[in-house]
Amino acid sequence: MRVYIIGAGPGDPKLITVRGAELISSCPVVLYTGSLVPEDVIARARADARVLNSSGMTLDEIVDVLVEARDADLDVARVHTGDPSIFGSTAEQMRRMDELGIAYEIVPGVSSFTAAAAALGKELTLPELSQTVILTRVEGRTAMPERERLSLLGEHRATLALFLSITLLKKVAGELIPSYGEDCPVAVVHKASCRDQQIVTGTLADIHQRVKEANIRSQAIILVGHVLTSTDFANSRLYDPEFSHGFRKSRTKGPTPARRQGTT
Ligand SMILES: C[S@@+](CC[C@H](N)C(=O)[O-])C[C@H]1O[C@@H](n2cnc3c(N)ncnc32)[C@H](O)[C@@H]1O
Repeated sequence: MRVYIIGAGPGDPKLITVRGAELISSCPVVLYTGSLVPEDVIARARADARVLNSSGMTLDEIVDVLVEARDADLDVARVHTGDPSIFGSTAEQMRRMDELGIAYEIVPGVSSFTAAAAALGKELTLPELSQTVILTRVEGRTAMPERERLSLLGEHRATLALFLSITLLKKVAGELIPSYGEDCPVAVVHKASCRDQQIVTGTLADIHQRVKEANIRSQAIILVGHVLTSTDFANSRLYDPEFSHGFRKSRTKGPTPARRQGTT
């Protein structure tokens, strides 16, 4: 018996891995986070599967389901939204399974922040502009470690992807304006990859008002950074004819200057 912790992806039922979909179709128990995992993903469960929505359960109740399945020697598809490793509350479940000697395996998924970038048609890392993406949230009811306050993270001026923060957008902008500037581009993607996906773009100065007008209050990723609008970024080294790398020799004569060698 094994518990498969499966990333269901951001919403589109086709954005799940083949392995994740196969496991949902074959496991006799399917326990899914109903608040965000779409019904279409769970519709793959076999007709005789025990299908349970964990959104109204406590951790103890979730563990009870897993223990019952273990005692009956039944595999469990434990389905989480996006990728289970990002704000998934999976660690506390795995800790309990470790204590109980229940075997588990993680099947990764498409996170909502990459689905948001896809919806916008953007790359989040651009040469010389931003080579870092910070995945975070702003402090609300869940306290942030002091060293991870948004205003401190903002000092890096890296690309930011904020989860669980859409109702605190005014606070997000207030904390970021000192480092990114009022005109820094922001995009909010609500229900990325779903049929009713919505995109609102603006700047740190006006995004709060724009999102308020669009009436978006849940299930949204906030992306912040100049990568969202830049068009004059440098090309990467990867496709530069002057450079050699493990898979291609330089197209120009003479040795590639060592200083500029690289793959990206
Ligand atoms: C509990 S976290 C789970 C994140 C998930 N593990 C992931 O990798 O996307 C829930 C937050 O993820 C974001 N989220 C989840 N699905 C989304 C979607 N389809 N579009 C936009 N944001 C989404 C929202 O910020 C939401 O508040």
